[in-house]
Amino acid sequence: MTIAARPGRAVGAPLRREGPAKLTGTALYTDDLVFPGGWYGTTIRSTEPRARLVAIDLDPAFDWSRVAVVTADDIPGDNVVASIAADQPILVPVGGEIRHQAEPVALLAAADRETLREARLRVRLRTEALPPVFDPLASTVEFARYDLAKGDVDAGLASADLVVQGTYRVGHQEQLYIENNAMIAVPRAGGGVIVHGSLQCPYYVHKALKRGLRIGSEQAQVVQAETGGGFGGKEEYPSMIGLHAALLALRTQRPVRMIYDRHEDLAATTKRHPAIVTHRTGVMRDGRVVAQDIDLVLDGGAYTTLTPVVLSRATIHAGGPYDIPNVRIRGRAVMTNTPPNGAFRGFGAPQSEFAAETQLNRVAEAIGMSPLDVRRRNVYRLGGITPTQQVLRGGVAGEEVLERAAEASEFDRVRVRTAESRGRRSPRDRTARGIGLALAWHGAGFTGSGEAKMGSVVSVELSGDGVVRILTASTEMGQGTKTIFPQLVAAELGLPIEAVEMAPQDTALVPDSGPTVASRTAMVVGGMTIQAARRLREAVEGRTGRPFATSYRDDAADHGATRIDQAFEPYPGVGFDDATYTGDAYPAFGWAAAVAEVEVDLDTFEVAVRSIVAVDDVGRVIHPVLCEGQVEGGTLQAVGYATIEEIKLLDGRYLNDRLQTYLIPTALDAPRIETILVESPFAGVPHGAKGVGELPMDVGAPAVVAAIHDATGAWIHDLPATPERIMAALVGIDPPGPPGISTVSPRRAADGDTER
Ligand code: MTE
Ligand code: MOS
Repeated sequence: MTIAARPGRAVGAPLRREGPAKLTGTALYTDDLVFPGGWYGTTIRSTEPRARLVAIDLDPAFDWSRVAVVTADDIPGDNVVASIAADQPILVPVGGEIRHQAEPVALLAAADRETLREARLRVRLRTEALPPVFDPLASTVEFARYDLAKGDVDAGLASADLVVQGTYRVGHQEQLYIENNAMIAVPRAGGGVIVHGSLQCPYYVHKALKRGLRIGSEQAQVVQAETGGGFGGKEEYPSMIGLHAALLALRTQRPVRMIYDRHEDLAATTKRHPAIVTHRTGVMRDGRVVAQDIDLVLDGGAYTTLTPVVLSRATIHAGGPYDIPNVRIRGRAVMTNTPPNGAFRGFGAPQSEFAAETQLNRVAEAIGMSPLDVRRRNVYRLGGITPTQQVLRGGVAGEEVLERAAEASEFDRVRVRTAESRGRRSPRDRTARGIGLALAWHGAGFTGSGEAKMGSVVSVELSGDGVVRILTASTEMGQGTKTIFPQLVAAELGLPIEAVEMAPQDTALVPDSGPTVASRTAMVVGGMTIQAARRLREAVEGRTGRPFATSYRDDAADHGATRIDQAFEPYPGVGFDDATYTGDAYPAFGWAAAVAEVEVDLDTFEVAVRSIVAVDDVGRVIHPVLCEGQVEGGTLQAVGYATIEEIKLLDGRYLNDRLQTYLIPTALDAPRIETILVESPFAGVPHGAKGVGELPMDVGAPAVVAAIHDATGAWIHDLPATPERIMAALVGIDPPGPPGISTVSPRRAADGDTER
């Protein structure tokens, strides 16, 4: 089934629940929260990429009685920010190793900002420099590695008519949520702390507090404040900030505010992982790809953080949405001395799918086939088998999104026109237009056995006073949790949406529904929410013998409260083997296609993205306006990734760590985006939704780069496609940055036969 989303379709759909408060300014973000007697906290960080910490000197001429100082020695529990590995300290201890330029070493708090500013200047770190590593290819420390294999790659490459080789590089990208990271810790009456903050995953912070402070579950309480966007950037770093605020709060026995300004947020918190991806693709003249040999290296930065999971997703998605008989994918993630990289919308897939799509466009060019036809030939269809040996049993919509995108953008017709104007170009032409296409798949929810291991819970209760309430740790960060959950429950119970409440995201009140990541909220937690509502309805209707909607108030009056705790139940027939890294890597996949039209200035080589047709299969559309908003937002972040978002580094420090210098697209840079939503449902959940949060991020960048090629004839291998890189590619000089080798070689060519 397919629906076309149009403006108008929103009629009858509910308002965004948190929308009015945000619009009228009554919503309370972390920095809006007032705690009388609260102090301000700050973080003393390293300024070196790698060093031994010898001592922390406090200027004896300064009056330290007005300031609280916390170092690693003051940490009551393990000096570890709990995550996948236990390698990242909360504060570097004296004698320990500093691993990046923004690493936290000490904490200060004071009653006023002026004192705090003065105190900061009176702290000196004594260090001994150690040799840093910045080039991931030179790193000897591996965080994770995955090897995938299907068929016989060497035989496949040997049998191909043509082998095309290319290397692609992508850099850091900043999430740039509107609200900076912010946490406030308040000492609890019964011991421990309450941490209020801007965050995606209350129970991640909860777990980190328990371990770092050595306190029990009740003593560690985490409450999400209104959150101005996360995009993965508030998945793990809030644990660090929450711990810092809590340590200062416990020391001072006062509320302590840790509110980052944009500069600190940019300089210290996680970014999208840079990646280097090399492809060797064997293709037949008729367009059939017969072999993919892919090597992927992710730059993890200084600590493990979520890197193994990001790598896992990057590796599984690295071939793109194509059923290729012989595939070998080697993924590695390594340590370098930059701030750790982490989650960002797409979680590894935008990196590896940029490479896959650009490579496929080059393959198409090499055999003289259209980018559309080469995808038609190779895209997964029902029954397709992925590199983890997963058989695609349902909800396979790669072909559909491709055809819809081609049709809506008139891809073939426009491409003939851009080719003609390229042929007729004269030196007087000041701009060139081009069109480009990309296709992607995105695994819905956690990778592999993640969901089964997590054991998430969501609750729906009918209170004694007759109120229906959803209790979940899934957070709202603009993507719609607080709207769609009541919608799903109201539909199941036959109530108007206004009759369903959401409990606050407070670990003292709600169960651990898992983190709000991996676009899992609508599909996984949403599915559990419907199950819980269904059980509640059955319980009430069983007692009253009447429909829930007309009998629940009576039931509450007669029987008191009913609460249903719904735990995640593995989807039937979905299984993954961690030991062999094979099986159903995801319960379902979302599919996306994008067609971009660009205009390139032939004097300055600036790129203006004029329009994008984005077609996304989300399984089931729950809220058309929110869903389209997700596609538009993700597409625009991808446009930034493709064209202007670039972080320059010097000695492992981000040089452009301010909004003046880190540029993202503004409203003026935004293309016209036409969103088409496709519904190819996942049968494992009652509503069929597969999630939409990250999917659009996978296709925008390769589509824009393909359009730049169509306009100019230049292939850009390294993101972003800056004017410098486009000019370098056009005039045949080396682009700035490390070389991207790209080879189109005849059959069985040696690796060394390169032709730029
Ligand atoms: N949309 C808004 N408005 N704000 C956000 O922070 N985060 C993205 C995506 N869309 C984000 C967003 C990321 S990284 C993810 S994983 C998903 O939303 C998470 O929410 P979901 O599980 O509800 O899709
Ligand atoms: Mo999203 S990167 O999984 O928070």
